[in-house]
Amino acid sequence: MKIINLAILFSGNGGNLENIYKKLNSKEFGDIKINFPIAISSKYGAFGITRCSNIGLNCKILDYKENKINYDEKLINILKSYNIDLVILAGFMRILGDSFCSRFKALNIHPSILPLFKGANAIKESYESYMKIAGVSVHYVSNELDSGELIMQDIIYKIDGESLESFEDRIHALEYEIYPKAILKALNCKI
Ligand code: GRF
Repeated sequence: MKIINLAILFSGNGGNLENIYKKLNSKEFGDIKINFPIAISSKYGAFGITRCSNIGLNCKILDYKENKINYDEKLINILKSYNIDLVILAGFMRILGDSFCSRFKALNIHPSILPLFKGANAIKESYESYMKIAGVSVHYVSNELDSGELIMQDIIYKIDGESLESFEDRIHALEYEIYPKAILKALNCKI
């Protein structure tokens, strides 16, 4: 049995963090067992920190505002100390540089059909667009915002008259469905 150590990086609510942890932690997939030795928040007060303590996920805070100098290096050192094999970004509001991307393989989820609607307002922009579909994308992390090779995408159909809140709920539900699957795909596990 091969143990794979995943780290989750986040900055806010932590919905994907909790979902991924509950679906994958300590689970076996073929000859692989997934562990989560650490989650890291880039922000004090992020609700994900509370979620970590509720679900029993070890969490460290590396607040960006207090650690602007060499932030990536500090992150790398923490991840190295936990023997992390794959990094999972889940609402992590920082762009990681070359040094990080060459040291760790990392995945990110974005709430749009990339390459459309990159950036922080993806859900609203896709809701307001003339498109009839919307969706979510999981991709490898590169040093460019919401770029990098795609691993998985899925879509929802827009509903006439639907509120932004309801649309957003459906986007998040789709995220919760595909992110764990995309992680397993990236690890070459059978889904
Ligand atoms: C998600 O919509 C994700 O796609 C985006 O940031 C949001 C994070 O939400 N990158 P949560 O913190 O996982 O609830």
